[in-house]
Amino acid sequence: MSNLLFSPARMGPLELSNRIVMAPMARTRADGEGVMGNINAQYYAQRAQAGLIVSEASWISPMGKGLSHSPGLFSMNHVAGWKRVVDAVHEQGGRIFAQLWHCGRVSTPSLLGGELPVAPSPIAAFGRIMTPDGFRNFPVPRMLETEEVGKIVAEFGIAAQNAKNAGFDGVEIHAAGGYLIDQFLQTGSNVRRDPYGGLSANRCRFLFEVVEEVAKIWGKDRIGVKLSPSNRDFGMIDADPQILFSKAISGLEEMGIAYIHMMEPLDGDLKEGDVLKDNAQRFRPYFRGAMIANGGFDKGKAEMIIDNEGADLVSFGRLFIANPDLPERFRLNKPLNEPDPDTFYDGGEAGYTDYPTLEPHPYLRLVEGE
Ligand SMILES: Cc1cc2nc3c(=O)[nH]c(=O)nc-3n(C[C@H](O)[C@H](O)[C@H](O)COP(=O)(O)O)c2cc1C
Repeated sequence: MSNLLFSPARMGPLELSNRIVMAPMARTRADGEGVMGNINAQYYAQRAQAGLIVSEASWISPMGKGLSHSPGLFSMNHVAGWKRVVDAVHEQGGRIFAQLWHCGRVSTPSLLGGELPVAPSPIAAFGRIMTPDGFRNFPVPRMLETEEVGKIVAEFGIAAQNAKNAGFDGVEIHAAGGYLIDQFLQTGSNVRRDPYGGLSANRCRFLFEVVEEVAKIWGKDRIGVKLSPSNRDFGMIDADPQILFSKAISGLEEMGIAYIHMMEPLDGDLKEGDVLKDNAQRFRPYFRGAMIANGGFDKGKAEMIIDNEGADLVSFGRLFIANPDLPERFRLNKPLNEPDPDTFYDGGEAGYTDYPTLEPHPYLRLVEGE
C-alpha cells in the first residue's frame, strides 16, 4: 500500500508522476492589480514535486473579484505575471493548472469599482467582509439578467485563453466554496425563474455552459471542476444535494472532462441529519474520469481512499502550505511542519516561502545566488 501515492496517474492526456495534488489556495500575495511576481513564482516552484499543482483561484473579470491581492487572469499583465510562475514550476519538472474564479455575491462594492456584486438571485452571502469602513455584512447582490449570464460565460473563455497564453497545463473551474457557479447550483442562493433556475438541470446550466466555453480553448480533457457538496461557507445550502450533485457530475461525465476535484466536509460543515459525507466515494459511480479527493487528508487516509478506489488522487491544502516538499516527506515518512494560519493570507515571505524543506531546495539556491 505504501507506494500507492507514488504510482503515476493518468489525467486526460497527461501522465502525472504521482497522485499527490497541491490544492488551490488563495494566499493574497499578488500586487494591488492582481499581478503575480517573483515571490509567487518561488512559492509555487518550491512545491513542484506535487504530481499536479492547482493554482490559487484567479478572478476572470473585474466583477469576479472578491479578495484583495488575489491574482487576476484577464489582463496582459496578469498573463505575464502568471507566466513567470508557470515557467518556474515547469523548470522544476512540475505541472500546474489555473483555477478560474468568479466570486459572485461573495464580494463588496469597494472591490468592484463601487458596483454591487452580482449573483443568480438577490440573496446576501452569510457572513462579513472587510470594507474601507471595517468588517460589514455582505451586501444584497444584484441579480444577473438572463442575457448577462452569457457574457460571464464568455469571460470564462477569455480567462481560459489567457491561462493558455501563460503556459498552464490545463484549467480547473472553481464551482465550489460558495462562489458564483456554486451560487447558481444550489437552491439557497438560486431562486431564479428563468432557464438558469428551478430544477437541478437548470441550475447546472451555467456550469455546463462555462465548461463548453472553456473546452473551445483547452479541449475537455484538460479541464477539471472543483465541487463542494457539503461546504457551508457563506451560508451555502441546497434542498437536495444528492440529486443536484449527481446531476452535475453525470453531466460533466458526459462532457468528458479530465477530473472532478471533490471536497469532503470539513469540521463544522456537517449539521445534524446531513447525509453528504465521503463525497468522493459517494459520487464515484457517476464519473469515469479522474477523481481527486480533498479535505482533511493525511498520508494514511490518502492511501486508504486510493486503495479502496474511492479516488484516484488526493489533494492537500494546508499541509502543502507548511511542507513545500510534502511528497518527499510522505515518501520517507518524515515528520511534517505545522501550518500557521496567521500567515495564510497577506504579507510576504513569512509563512509563504520560508517553511523549511528536508534538503535545501534548488530553486531557493538559484534565487539566493542571483
Ligand atoms: C489559505 C487557504 C486558501 C484557500 N483558497 C482556495 C482557493 O483559492 N480555491 C479553492 O478552490 N479552495 C481554496 N481553499 C480550500 C482548499 O483548496 C482545500 O479545499 C481546503 O484547504 C481543504 O483541504 P486541506 O484539508 O488539505 O487543507 C483554500 C484553503 C486555504 C487554507
